[in-house]
Amino acid sequence: MTAHTIFVCTTCASTWENGKRVGESGGEKLLKRLQQDNQNSQNQEIKIQAVECMSACNRSCVICFASKDKYTYLFGDISPELSSTQVAGLFECANKYYHHPQGLLPWAERPDPLKKGVLARIPAIPAAIPVGWV
Ligand code: FES
Repeated sequence: MTAHTIFVCTTCASTWENGKRVGESGGEKLLKRLQQDNQNSQNQEIKIQAVECMSACNRSCVICFASKDKYTYLFGDISPELSSTQVAGLFECANKYYHHPQGLLPWAERPDPLKKGVLARIPAIPAAIPVGWV
């Protein structure tokens, strides 16, 4: 199976002083939380990767589900203080993404934070660009 990744922005919800980040950001807290719970999750094939920014900074915290040949989902407004139930829901949703051939996640099947916070659903790049598209 192809690699599946949950990207987590570690710059989201940062505190800034004199142009420098201070303390632990909300994104770093969220990353730690997800890494910790991912160790107990049902699917070890889904990796969690920190990124510095996904250009959705005014909707922090931001995460993304991505895999080759699948839709890419970008989610914002994710609390760094997710409850255990919400974290479990997020991993359950990531598992559905893993198992769906195109990575489709119907609205009704997503947990609340991933229903309200969806910012983008980007299709996979076609294997071959049909003649006349360009
Ligand atoms: S700071 Fe998190 S998306 Fe830009």
